[in-house]
Amino acid sequence: MFPSNFLWGASLSAHQTEGAVNEDGKSPSVQDTRPRSNSQIADFTVASDHYHRYREDIKLLAQMGAKALRISLPWTRIIPDGVSEVNQKAVAHYRNVFQTMQEYQIQPLVTTYHFDLPQVLQDQGGWTNRATVDAYENYVRVLFQEFGDQVSHWLTINEPNIMLLADQKILGFHYTHQERYQAFYNLMIAEKKAFQACHQLVPGGQIGPVPNISYVYPGSCRPQDIRAAATFNAVRNWGYLDFSVRGLINPLLQAYLRKTGVDLQILPEDQELVTHNFPDFLGINYYTSVTVEYPQAGQDRQNGISDQQSEDVYEKDFYKGLTNPYLEKNDFNWTVDPLGLQTTLELINDRYHRPIYITENGLGAYDELTPDHKIHDQYRIDYLQSHLESIQEAMVNGVDVQGYLPWSAIDLVSVHEGMKKRYGLIYVDRTEEDLKTLNRYPKDSYYWYQGVIEHGEVNG
Ligand code: BG6
Repeated sequence: MFPSNFLWGASLSAHQTEGAVNEDGKSPSVQDTRPRSNSQIADFTVASDHYHRYREDIKLLAQMGAKALRISLPWTRIIPDGVSEVNQKAVAHYRNVFQTMQEYQIQPLVTTYHFDLPQVLQDQGGWTNRATVDAYENYVRVLFQEFGDQVSHWLTINEPNIMLLADQKILGFHYTHQERYQAFYNLMIAEKKAFQACHQLVPGGQIGPVPNISYVYPGSCRPQDIRAAATFNAVRNWGYLDFSVRGLINPLLQAYLRKTGVDLQILPEDQELVTHNFPDFLGINYYTSVTVEYPQAGQDRQNGISDQQSEDVYEKDFYKGLTNPYLEKNDFNWTVDPLGLQTTLELINDRYHRPIYITENGLGAYDELTPDHKIHDQYRIDYLQSHLESIQEAMVNGVDVQGYLPWSAIDLVSVHEGMKKRYGLIYVDRTEEDLKTLNRYPKDSYYWYQGVIEHGEVNG
């Protein structure tokens, strides 16, 4: 049994669901401008039309029994020029969204920024430019002032680790190595400023980071492979959480930065900020596990376009992803590893001793809408069920998991694969090219999850 106050919910992001990209004063974000590797992938112009249909979506989620919904706020709608003028139309819209959630007794968990940096800031260097940190601080202060009476639980920056490591896939451009780690440092400083501002401005407010964490396995017990895994754990996982929770740059990450010639620009006043502002909880996104080995001579491959999930990770002289022979893969080549979630949660608990919300977890799959508007997604039920069982085991072993908000509440435009890779508990009737009716249809997984929430347990 899960505790009666367990926060059952689901997750979304703004740019993947809202559409309305040219409405109510929104400016373009890097998601609106990024070149698509595949022209068959839907853009965000309409997405799932959630901007217009949020009431219907919230109502359906309430009928499912959801007690929480994670959404993100789009910086480009709230402050279209990135830095100054607050768009009152947007403020009014999101106040209505939160009011609607309140009417349905759904608690919002709000991500301040989910991959959608204003293009005007990107044009000035984006996260490599320290001025973006100031712009972000100004933006989150606006959020806390405008919505702090409606939203108590905040998440800072969605998956900065994956955004930087999978830059080409997510943002449409490559950082140089030096730029990537200056952006890392600036993002981490921005996050600390958000912790500080939330605690100053939101009465009783709580805030946490939201990285994508999955423990990296070594491909063998060969010492070089163990070291490759330790390095990649630092680069992919602990570097981000250590900064947030321990207020330091992880020592293995530092060694890696030294070896690769990175020279970080750090301001003298940062130390005070970094060591005095901490999260109240951790938001953790988990989909898959990663297995690496030390790349042997002759195994070199280009640092290519990677989504950083499963086996396509590679960095010359450090680590190389490989197929884990013990795990199955989904239709999109991501390994499925529920036990990996338990291990990851227990290690996070061991390192950080913070309450945890699972803020993303889910299965991207090809779904089929039957003529009578059903979606028989038993594969998604199996995925969610096995991961929930794992969470339950971790809780028995002392991990303080406070809530589960799977990805995603409704179908949305997948970052890497467009509309064909569906995650939702609720089907959205459109395809990549054809907007169709945009009607909503609950999937079998919706009804299964409804039962889980109602009974507070995962029935096998
Ligand atoms: C996470 C992101 O990295 O993974 C989501 O926070 C994203 O925005 C999800 O949709 C799944 O990735 P993808 O590429 O399958 O959409």
